Parts: sequence; structure tokens; C-alpha cells
Amino acid sequence: MNPVPAAKIQFLPEDRAWIADRIQEVLASGQLTLGKYGAEFERAFAAFCGVRHAVAVNSGTSALEILFRSLGIEGKKVIVPSNTFFATAAAVVHAGGTPLFADMDPGTFALGPETVKPLLGPGVAGIVTVHIGGVVSPRMPELAALAREQGLWLVEDAAHAHGSAWGSTRAGGFGIGATFSFYPTKVMTSAEGGMIVTNDDRLAEESRIYRDQGKKSFAENAHVRMGYNWRLSEPHAIIGLKHLERLPAMIADRQAIAARYDRGLRTFQNLEPLAVPPDGVCNYYKYIAVLRRKTNRQELKKVLRERHGVSLAGEVYEAPLHLQPVFAKFARGPLPVSEDLCSRHICLPVFSGMADEDADRVIRALAEVVG
Ligand SMILES: Cc1ncc(COP(=O)(O)O)c(C=O)c1O
Repeated sequence: MNPVPAAKIQFLPEDRAWIADRIQEVLASGQLTLGKYGAEFERAFAAFCGVRHAVAVNSGTSALEILFRSLGIEGKKVIVPSNTFFATAAAVVHAGGTPLFADMDPGTFALGPETVKPLLGPGVAGIVTVHIGGVVSPRMPELAALAREQGLWLVEDAAHAHGSAWGSTRAGGFGIGATFSFYPTKVMTSAEGGMIVTNDDRLAEESRIYRDQGKKSFAENAHVRMGYNWRLSEPHAIIGLKHLERLPAMIADRQAIAARYDRGLRTFQNLEPLAVPPDGVCNYYKYIAVLRRKTNRQELKKVLRERHGVSLAGEVYEAPLHLQPVFAKFARGPLPVSEDLCSRHICLPVFSGMADEDADRVIRALAEVVG
């Protein structure tokens, strides 16, 4: 019996051939960065998200730092969830700001208005929310209204949420700007890469300046911002362009596996899947389920792997950021919901191309081990 991996990247043979042909073309032309494929990837991604601008960069981490630099956060405070990946808060620090860690809304694993309110005060410039696991909180309009009332901007770190939505708005369209990651574990990949999306002309222009060494324009050598080399190469853009075309089908595959899990876990006593809001679309970057009883997660993962050949995916997240040593100086006391739920959830394997029988095996293994 083949093991069930935690995740798998799918590039169909015809897509690999399409990508290889175009990489041959750019190798022959010598146009290897900031060329026509990068521009096409940007146009297609902006259209997919329903926004006016997209700026392609070399990672989700650089997308965050560029957006924060473009917003001007030096010397300012930024409210970020403690339950997120290192880069969300690290980018605030790299751009000269101070992260204020907020607790999570247990219903979505993300920020809620009531977890943000205690942190509002002088010096706060904005709020960053993260669509954990691809779930867009139904409270996004409330969060956006709170930001507006307070004169703050709202940014989405949408690294998990390509194609996710709430109501008629796709991830990337709720705030002043949003960032995406195309790291290989994500729902779509460009090998490495990231994207900034926005409806704001100035932010888009600033982002283009920052990503290319702070140069006023591609052709001019006037450096007007403290930029960096954050450019995306043409081979990466070509890979991303093809995966973007496949994204709706890949999301549908993930949703079908998730629906199977939803049905299979219905009778479980100790495992409760994180519900997707009725008006929401989830891309199932992760299938999150909460353990009702305190369970040794490391031991559970080991038993599933060794006895059942099932690898669970990485948590979102194993520990909240305010407990990470490097952020200790920004921590301001316990965040009980994040600390509890970070320690008490698991993520089931889900990927495009996963066989139904493998999902059923995961359910059977969990029934035996967790129940
Ligand atoms: C929430 C979140 N933000 C930012 C990033 C950073 O993206 P990248 O790995 O492309 O730099 C990731 C992914 O790894 C992430 O999960």
C-alpha cells in the first residue's frame, strides 16, 4: 500500500511541455526577467482576483515587505494575527514597523473585530489579516468597516487563499492591498514567487519601484526608494501563468476531497472540522480539524505515519508568533485562543490529484487513532 503524502504538486504532462517550450523561448531570446510573461502573469492574476493591478515579485515574503514599505510603516505599529507564518510579522519589522499581535477568532482561525479592538490606539497605521487555510472570514466586511472608522488601512496576507472568496469578493479584493505566495506548498505555484494586488494606482506604482532596486523606472538609473532585488524571473512567471490557468480545476479537486472528509468525519467524537462559512468559497489550502480532547500531536502524527502510511500536513500554525523567541520583545501577554487552538488542531492531506481511496484511508486511519 502506497503511503498517503501530506501534499503533492501537480503539473500535467502537457503543462510541463508548454512550460518547457516557453522557457526555451526566453533562454533563446535572453529576455529572462521583467519581460512579457511576467507582465502577462500580472494581468491574468489581477483579472482572476478582480482587482486593477498586480505586481509580480520573487516571494510572498517580499510581496509583504514591498506593500508595507509602499504604505510607509516606518516608526508605526501594525496589528497582525499571532496565528500566522513568520513572514507576516517579520516583514512588518523589516519595513521599519512594530507588530502588535492579536488573538484569533476561534470560528475562522483568523482575526475578528473583537480581537483587534483592544490593540487600537495612537501610532497604529493598519491591520493585516491572514485567510488561514484558505478560509475567508465572513467578518471581513466588519473588519474593513472597523479599519475605515479608525482611519486605518486593511491588508490581506492572502498567501493561503488563491481563489478563495466570501460573498462575491475574492481574496485580494477586501483591503487596500493584498499579497500572495507561490511557494511550492501553496495551492498554485511558480516554484518561488509572490504577487501584490491592489486597486490603488499609487501603491501599484510604488511596488514596481521597490521591487527593482528602488529605481524610478526600468529604463532610468535614478534610485528614489530603498528598494531591493525583488524581481520575478521569466521562467518563474511562465510556471505561474500555467498553474494559474489550472487553478480553478485544482481548487475543485481539493474541494471534492474536502467534501469527502466532511462526510467521513461527521460521526467523529474527538475531531471537528473548521467550518467554511455558507457564503464562502474555500480553496482548501489546508483541511483544518480541531481535536476536542488534548492529544499529543507529535505522537498522533507518528502513529498515523508509521502504522497507517498517512502523513498529516503542517499545522497553521504549530505555535503562535508571540511565543516565538525572535518576537519575544513584541509579546504583550498571553493570547489564549491562539495558544489553545494552535496546539489542538491537525491538517489532513489534501492536494489536486489525490485519489478518493486515499482520502478514505485517511478517514479510516483517523477513526482508529483519534475517533
Ligand atoms: C501566511 C503566509 N504569509 C507569507 C508567506 C511567505 O511566502 P513565501 O514563502 O512565498 O515567501 C507564507 C508562506 O510560506 C505564508 O503562509
